[in-house]
Amino acid sequence: MTARIIDGNVLSARLRGALAAKAAELTAQGTRPCLAVILVGGDPASAVYVRNKVAGCEKAGIQSLKFEYPQDAAPADVLGKIAELNADPSVHGILVQLPLPRQFDEKTVLEAISVEKDVDGFHAENVGRLSQGQEAFVPCTPNGVMEMLKSIEVPLRGAEAVVIGRSNIVGKPMAMLLTAAGATVTVCHSGTRDLNFHTRRADILVAAIGKPKFVTGDMIKPGATVIDVGINRLPDGKLCGDVDFASAQEVAGAITPVPGGVGPMTITMLLANTVESASRVARKG
Ligand code: GUN
Repeated sequence: MTARIIDGNVLSARLRGALAAKAAELTAQGTRPCLAVILVGGDPASAVYVRNKVAGCEKAGIQSLKFEYPQDAAPADVLGKIAELNADPSVHGILVQLPLPRQFDEKTVLEAISVEKDVDGFHAENVGRLSQGQEAFVPCTPNGVMEMLKSIEVPLRGAEAVVIGRSNIVGKPMAMLLTAAGATVTVCHSGTRDLNFHTRRADILVAAIGKPKFVTGDMIKPGATVIDVGINRLPDGKLCGDVDFASAQEVAGAITPVPGGVGPMTITMLLANTVESASRVARKG
């Protein structure tokens, strides 16, 4: 069997077209959606992600503001900028790119962002709301994965879903979303004893480990849907995921590629959250 490819670029283009139309409509009504992005330090991967986020905004007609700080920036300066952006009614979304340098307490920074502008969905209140099934900004990567699953109409109710990785950004919210959709979810991580036992039972397998080509074909149930959240750079400069695509695609029923899979969907969902935030403001008048 050769797996069906779930193309994140194609799906993103469709969704971004609709978002651009909504952004244009809001702009015409006097509320131009605006995302503020804060980047601290010189992590090259973070710089690329931020560049792609800003470019995604521009293309969709969303205004973007970028604030860059050096590696040794004082946390008080960044917190001051967040307070300023919280108070600015023309800003609808605020994003602080992670990871932050060591002098920062990540939790303090994320909690400083106004809940209404937390388009990354990382604020504890949004996380709590999501866990209780209340309206919330949903973290972009797992939200993008849900859109990909929806696009191929994979049954979620009663499905066995296995998530490898328990991060706040991907693994935990991914498990919440799959659970809410009716799947039976197992979260595996570096301390999981017999990982293959779990992965081979999965109808839906989400890999968010951060280790190149970690999931191989022999770990996958025939016909399963495999979602690769990993973005790893190999010594030759090429990107690869957490899944060994060559062996996995022989076994899986559907699979996401890297690049061109989950990555573009993450940005698409960020744009969606920003447009949603702006429309909430416009509705309030
Ligand atoms: N670092 C890795 N992924 C993300 C993300 O989705 N948002 C932010 N802010 N930082 C990240």
